[in-house]
Amino acid sequence: MQVPRYTSYPTAAEFTPAVGCADQRRWLRDLDMAEAVSVYLHVPYCRELCLYCGCNTKRALRDDVIGAYRTALEREIALVSDSLPASLRIAGLHWGGGTPSILGADGLASVMAVLRRYFVFEPGFEHAIELDPRYVTSLLAASLNELGVNRASLGVQDVNPRVQVAIGRWQPMQDVAAAVLRLRAAGIGNLNFDLIYGLPLQTVTSLRKTCEIVAMLSPDRIACYGYAHMPRLKANQRLIDEKTLPGVEERTDQAGAIAEELQRHGFLRIGIDHFARPDDALTRAAMSGRLHRNFQGYTDDSRETLIGFGASSISRFRDGYVQNLSDVPSYVRAITDGRLAAARGCRLDAAEKQRARTIESLMCAFQADLDVTAPDMELTEELALLQPLIKDGLVRVEGRVVTATDAGCQVVRVIAAAFDPHTRTDPARFSKAV
Ligand SMILES: C[S@@+](CC[C@H](N)C(=O)[O-])C[C@H]1O[C@@H](n2cnc3c(N)ncnc32)[C@H](O)[C@@H]1O
Ligand code: SF4
Repeated sequence: MQVPRYTSYPTAAEFTPAVGCADQRRWLRDLDMAEAVSVYLHVPYCRELCLYCGCNTKRALRDDVIGAYRTALEREIALVSDSLPASLRIAGLHWGGGTPSILGADGLASVMAVLRRYFVFEPGFEHAIELDPRYVTSLLAASLNELGVNRASLGVQDVNPRVQVAIGRWQPMQDVAAAVLRLRAAGIGNLNFDLIYGLPLQTVTSLRKTCEIVAMLSPDRIACYGYAHMPRLKANQRLIDEKTLPGVEERTDQAGAIAEELQRHGFLRIGIDHFARPDDALTRAAMSGRLHRNFQGYTDDSRETLIGFGASSISRFRDGYVQNLSDVPSYVRAITDGRLAAARGCRLDAAEKQRARTIESLMCAFQADLDVTAPDMELTEELALLQPLIKDGLVRVEGRVVTATDAGCQVVRVIAAAFDPHTRTDPARFSKAV
């Protein structure tokens, strides 16, 4: 069964060109200025491409191209703020990619200066960046700290040398350890790691070892994604030898082994694919029902509005989503011409908002009380779709409360999909459920 990861509902696959710049302008104009927002900045460049990568990124061959992109980002910030009635407050900032540090310390500082010109930062705002550990020098770490970065996500993926060769990402463990030391020495104490299972040559045994080694570096959070293999969409993935990919059963075993191993090392499981220390803010959010899901995965960020800058970035408003042009030259051209870059999106009517709340609740708490998440909807057809899952012991429905059982938590995406009318038409588009 192929189902979305539901980092949003509707998923980006449902966005259409019927929603674009005019909606973005209206939604920006109508924002409640009393509410702080989150901001996402996308940098779609890396020094080299990893074979498994499914992100919207390209290999950067020329520094002037990166410079032109940075200029476009800065112009987009000015253009977006033109549509706002006043200066918005930013309470969370996330740099993603690609590899955002490719802008260099000066480039990052320049974008920050433009953001500060048009927006007001809340004191102590969360400032996170995705980093490739192979490029974290002491100088970069110190510059990030100076810019106010207080959380870094490092792409670790797997520490096994054979796997690293097969995925085209040679990254000796010493490099990861050095990056961690440099970041901590610079004062960036909140560290997340990304791991992937389902990669070529990975086995349950190799992944247990990876978890053991990774746990020694004591990250605060670990996100553990199932490898999404989409060779038709991603040319770099065509270089992966499919014969070396683990099958569905092996993937399930690998996901289970990782969970077991990380829990043995003191991490708590958060949602479908995150792990965190017991004293981490994400754990506290999960424990108190304040966990949310956004395009970066699980988060304790409860803000309604997310403004995305950069090629392919998605903005979320109360009444819908807009996504910028994904093609970088087209994005840069639109912004250089003084136009907003929104290319697609979707509007959320009352029913879609209730479906979104239901799916987010299932993904975050493995439970949805439909009287709370979808009080105006009967959802008879959706509840009927759950029948086979109830028979298989994966879900319980008591009154209007839908709960994934322990076995069902592993396939909560399938349970969530019952409330998503879009997946019923084309389930083949989504990556593997495990
Ligand atoms: C933008 S990258 C992280 C930062 C940096 N570029 C790096 O690689 O270290 C985001 C994360 O997405 C995950 N990822 C990328 N491609 C994936 C795929 N095909 N399947 C599952 N996870 C993937 C990886 O764990 C990666 O660390
Ligand atoms: S995994 Fe990170 S470094 Fe590798 S290609 Fe993707 S974004 Fe770039």
